[in-house]
Amino acid sequence: MVKSAILLVGGMGTRMQPLTFDTPKPMLPLVGKPITEHQIMKAKAAGITEIVLATSYLSDVFTPYFGRGEKFGIKISYAVEESALGTGGAIANAAKLLTGSGPVMIFNGDVLSNHSLERQIAAHEENGADVTLYLTEVEDARAFGVVELDGARIASFNEKMENPPTNIINAGCYIFNRDIIDQIPEGVVVSVERETFPVLLARGAKVYGFVDNSYWLDIGNPGALLKATRDLIESAGHEMAQGKGSSIDPTAVVDQGSFVGAGAIVGAGAKLHQSIIGDGAIIGANVDLTRVFVASETEVGENTVREGDFLGFSSH
Ligand code: GDD
Ligand code: MG
Repeated sequence: MVKSAILLVGGMGTRMQPLTFDTPKPMLPLVGKPITEHQIMKAKAAGITEIVLATSYLSDVFTPYFGRGEKFGIKISYAVEESALGTGGAIANAAKLLTGSGPVMIFNGDVLSNHSLERQIAAHEENGADVTLYLTEVEDARAFGVVELDGARIASFNEKMENPPTNIINAGCYIFNRDIIDQIPEGVVVSVERETFPVLLARGAKVYGFVDNSYWLDIGNPGALLKATRDLIESAGHEMAQGKGSSIDPTAVVDQGSFVGAGAIVGAGAKLHQSIIGDGAIIGANVDLTRVFVASETEVGENTVREGDFLGFSSH
C-alpha cells in the first residue's frame, strides 16, 4: 500500500515565462484549476492520504489555495526550500514531513497523465522493487530522461541526451521505498535524474520501469499548456469551457479548446481559438485571438487581433 506522496513543485518554470512571473508553473490554471490540483485529485483517487508539496520558487502561492487539504479531503503540508535543492534534495527534504514510513509516490509537478497509479503501485509491490519509474514512449526523447530496459528492470538512465538509445522516457512519477529516500544526502543540491538514479543503478539497486502508453503530457511551455487545456476540454466532449460567472456574447465564437476564466466577459462578435482567458478579463467586441493567453483582470480593446501572444502579463 502506498499512502504518502511528494509533489515536486519548486522549479522556476523558466520555459513557461511570462506566465510564471507571478505564478509558479504548477499553480497555472488548467481548465480553471491549478495543475497541482489535478494531480492531487489523481493521487487521492489512487488511495494516497497525505501529500507534501516540495516548494521553492514563489512558495507562498500554494498555501492559501490548498491550506491543510481540508477542502480536498487529503492531508497537505509544505516543505519550503530557501534555495532550490534540486529534485533529489527536494525529495529528501519533503520526506521529513511525512507521517507514514512506507513507500512514497513522487510526482513531477507539471505532468498531466492518464496512467494507472494503481497498476504502478501493484508492479512496485510484485517486483519487490526499491524504486519504480513510470515510463512512456515518445517520438523524440532528447528533452527527457531516457532509459534502457532489461526486462522490466532499468539498465541505464540518462537525463537529456543528444542521441538517445531508446524512445522510452521517464514520465515523471516514481515510487521510492523510504530507505532509498533516506540515503539521499540532506541539505545539498541533488538531482534525482542526474545523480540518484545513476548511483542506484551502479549499486545494483532494484530499479524497475512501469511502461504505460496512455495519455501523457509534460506541461513545460505555453504551447503545452494550450494543448493540455484543449485535450482536457475535448476529451470531455466539448469545444470550450468556462468558469463560474463568466459571460459570452451569443454572437461570439469560442472554440478549439479555449477556456474563459471565472467572471470574464466576452463581447459581441469576438473569436477565441485555442486561447486561455484569465479570471475577470474583458474581451472587447470583434476581438480575434488564436493561441493567446490573456491575464486575469485584463481588458482587451475591441477589434484587437493577435496570434500566439500574451496579453497583460507583467514583464519583470
Ligand atoms: N522542490 C523543487 N526543488 N522542485 C523542483 C526543483 C527544485 O530544486 N527543480 C525542479 N523541480 C520540479 C519542477 O517544478 C517540476 O515539477 C519537476 O521538478 C521537474 O522539473 P522540470 O524542470 O519540469 O524538468 P524537465 O521537464 O526538464 O524533466 C523532468 O521531467 C521529464 C518528464 O516530464 C525529468 O524528470 C525528466 O527525466 C523527465 O523525462
Ligand atoms: Mg517538466
